[in-house]
Amino acid sequence: RSLPTADQGFLYQYQGSWIPRSFMQGLLSFNKHFQAHDTDILLVTFPKVGTTWLKSILFSLLNRVRYDPNAQQHPLLTTHPHELVPILEIDIYGGKQVLELTHLTSPRLLSTHLPYSLLTRSVKDSMCKIVYLCRNPKDTFVSLWHFQNNTRVNRGMNPSTIEQDFDNFSNGISPYGPYWDHVMSYWKESLEKSKKIFFLEYEKMKEQPTICLKKLAEFLDCAFSPEEEVKNVVNDIVRLCSFENLSNLEVNKNGKYLAANKAAFFRRGEVGDWKNHLTAEMSETLDRITEEKFHSVGLKF
Ligand code: A3P
Repeated sequence: RSLPTADQGFLYQYQGSWIPRSFMQGLLSFNKHFQAHDTDILLVTFPKVGTTWLKSILFSLLNRVRYDPNAQQHPLLTTHPHELVPILEIDIYGGKQVLELTHLTSPRLLSTHLPYSLLTRSVKDSMCKIVYLCRNPKDTFVSLWHFQNNTRVNRGMNPSTIEQDFDNFSNGISPYGPYWDHVMSYWKESLEKSKKIFFLEYEKMKEQPTICLKKLAEFLDCAFSPEEEVKNVVNDIVRLCSFENLSNLEVNKNGKYLAANKAAFFRRGEVGDWKNHLTAEMSETLDRITEEKFHSVGLKF
């Protein structure tokens, strides 16, 4: 079946979302074959909102008894976060062969970029928990523009100007876009299903990381014990997963994950970098769309 394409044929429009063509097969296979466990934890993000950071945090949080966050042998010191937490439609179901998930211990920590409407029934019907991370649209776009140019150059293509990518993004055309529909789909669900979906914001995590991590741990039924409170384990995890720490590790500086340099997942790691890239007009356009879309559902950045 031929589907509408955009961005030089790189994206397919599938049930209202723009999916990278190379992930379509994985998406269909994921939806057909994946069986969620009630104990699964699914990390969901729109690309470039801090997936790598949250993967590091969730991995450290859930494995903190097995791996002391201060240990010299902590897996995050030698493995890129994307290799510790697989993306279902890409890493597990996206290759020629479906990878086994049997090596993962319970609770299985998995991730996806799919909007809620494209999630398999198995996930929706099970008791598995979803952690959704969002980020303000302007920083998300700027991060995406840099990242996509990194992958374009690696694939032998020309980089795009910010104006070209901006037009696409603001018209909803970007990997897993429209951005606004993605965020709203989980936001609405989280209001109804607060025990299943935990809604996190990048900006709040930057501002109050320990408070966010404690809430996250409670949601995942692994709250910090009084002994851990005394030892301030939450702080150890925040430090281990900080941009400064992770971006300076050799393992995150060299090599590639998919078509991107591993280092491209660690660029600035700040709130408000859009001010260095967007014109006043671009900023107003995104503000206007965001206000129009999010106002009625009570979502604000
Ligand atoms: P910038 O491009 O604005 O720097 P994703 O992981 O979803 O691909 O998102 C990447 C964005 O998260 C990048 O944003 C990256 O720098 C930022 N990031 C990566 N690790 C981070 C960390 N430990 N703390 C804060 N931000 C981080």
